[in-house]
Order: sequence, then structure tokens, then C-alpha cells
Amino acid sequence: MERTLIILKPSALQRRLIGEILTRFERKGFIICGMKMMRLDEKILDDHYSHLTDKPFYPRIKKSMMSSPVVVCCVQGVNAIPVVHAMAGVTNGRSAAPGTIRGDFSLSVQENVIHTSDSAKTAKEEIGRFFSPEEIFEYDIATLHYLYADDEVALE
Ligand code: PPS
Repeated sequence: MERTLIILKPSALQRRLIGEILTRFERKGFIICGMKMMRLDEKILDDHYSHLTDKPFYPRIKKSMMSSPVVVCCVQGVNAIPVVHAMAGVTNGRSAAPGTIRGDFSLSVQENVIHTSDSAKTAKEEIGRFFSPEEIFEYDIATLHYLYADDEVALE
């Protein structure tokens, strides 16, 4: 099964949306295999947003992401990377479809409550950036056979 990274941004914490957002992923059937609260510093943000550091809005993003702690989560499931990314919705909360997390909880490009990995490459890098190997848990899921058919789980 695939693993992907979710960051609940300061906008989610400040607006008390942690439970509401995580509930969506749990109800969908994703397995939470890592979760912690942390304060992001300049070093980790410059690394995480290395593709954006030359954009004029980057100092604003950095300030926003350091304004309070964030919650980082690693979730697991079949095709987790595209499914979680689709559940977040497009970057701009004003354009995100109703029913997506940003579509339901955000009106902003920057204060868009959640970050999700967008490819297998970024998911691997991002999980490694925010979690040490001992912080990722592998455990039996008693309900696995009620989440997937056997051949679906065997696909990945
Ligand atoms: S990109 O270039 O494809 O990675 O861009 P995108 O995925 O749309 O956005 C990447 C992150 O940059 C933030 N963003 C902005 N912040 C402030 N102002 C503006 N104009 C802006 N445009 C993009 C956006 O919130 C994305 O954050 P993450 O954490 O990746 O969701």
C-alpha cells in the first residue's frame, strides 16, 4: 500500500479543524501510520518548499507556516497519494470543489488548511523529511477485509 504525507497547517490548528479533517481520512478508510505535532523552522521549510523559494510570496508562506505548530500525518492506503491529494482539493480554496477539504474549509491560496504530497517521489521525500523511521508504525488492521478485496490489497 502507498503512504503519503499530510500537513495540517497553522490555519487548520487555529480554526480548530484538526479533528474534522482527520475524521475525513479515517472515515475514508486510510490507516494512520504516523502522527505528531511540531513547530516548523526555516530550514525544514526551505527544504520542503525548495521549488517556491524564489517566488515573491514565499516569505509570506514561511511566516504563516511558522506562526503556530502544525500536525503532520503519514497515512496509508491503496493509491493513497492521488486519493488524499484529491480529497484536499485544488490549491486555491476559492476554486476548490465543494466536498473537498479546501473547498469546504478555505477561501485562500495560502491559508488553505492542508498540504498533501502530489506524487510518489514527493511522498517518499516528504515522509522522510518530517518523520524518522521509528515514528512510522506498521500494525495489523482488523478491518482490512472490510476496506478492500484481497486482490486490491495485493496490487501494491
Ligand atoms: S506549485 O508551484 O505547483 O507547487 O504550486 P501549488 O502546488 O499550487 O502551490 C504550492 C504551495 O504554495 C502555496 N501558494 C501560495 N501561497 C501564497 N500566495 C500565493 N500566491 C501562493 N500560490 C501558491 C500553496 O498554498 C501551496 O502550499 P502547499 O503547502 O503545497 O499546499
